[in-house]
Amino acid sequence: MGWLPSETGDRSKIIRKALSEEKRVSTKTSAADLVTETDHLVEDLIISELQKRFPSHRFIAEEAAAAGAKCVLTPSPTWIVDPIDGTCNFVHRFPTVAVSIGFAVNQELEFGVIYHCTEERLYTGRRGQGAFCNGQRLQVSRETDLSKALVLTEIGPKRDPATLKLFLGNMERLLHAKAHGVRVIGSSTLALCHLASGAADAYYQFGLHCWDLAAATVIIREAGGIVMDTSGGPLDLMSCRVVAAGTREMATLIARALQTINYGRDDEK
Ligand code: IPD
Repeated sequence: MGWLPSETGDRSKIIRKALSEEKRVSTKTSAADLVTETDHLVEDLIISELQKRFPSHRFIAEEAAAAGAKCVLTPSPTWIVDPIDGTCNFVHRFPTVAVSIGFAVNQELEFGVIYHCTEERLYTGRRGQGAFCNGQRLQVSRETDLSKALVLTEIGPKRDPATLKLFLGNMERLLHAKAHGVRVIGSSTLALCHLASGAADAYYQFGLHCWDLAAATVIIREAGGIVMDTSGGPLDLMSCRVVAAGTREMATLIARALQTINYGRDDEK
């Protein structure tokens, strides 16, 4: 991963500069699902540089998928790229945005890097070799009691009444179970990094994508945490849903409390 820090840093300079400038904003799957020219620019730069170094590798990337590219994870070495996670934050100049790059071989996640662009924090995780933030080893929380937990989630793009009812109902269930708090920061990847750092005890979401999850999954697992499906079964990277926690007990409690919100699958769009 020797090439990653400086190159990811270059991308983040582009994002930091653009954060304070006027942006051309378009919508994708809903009025809350935003994209800017900077998302496209950063994605193109990352992919073209990786392609030069690894010409036989495959790519799954957020804006290419939005333009109709298929999201299929084959056994081939595959980079899974989110050029700006937290685009809605980025549009509003809310300084919580990240670049996320995961890498899988034989459908197994091998490593992930997530760069917090404004705070210049580089999170990395490599299978079997630990997870780090700017070189400091990460360790998840060991909390097992939901009534002592700080839980993170994200809203997802849908805003129809039925989805909102389920989303708010899920939050209400966790608050009834006396969770200390439920937070929404506007970036799935950075919320998952907070979990990996032990700054929160659990994360759940319906409506995220494989590029939100790939890098973070390696980082959380290498920090000692659990990443699973909302049914309580194994994680399915393409299922658009996740529960993650510092402990299996906590992840299971959250999974049992949740009502499912159906967002379909990334590999069927
Ligand atoms: C989104 C953000 C958002 C979450 C969505 C993600 P994007 O990623 O992380 O907080 O609710 O599910 O897809 O569109 O900003 O890259």
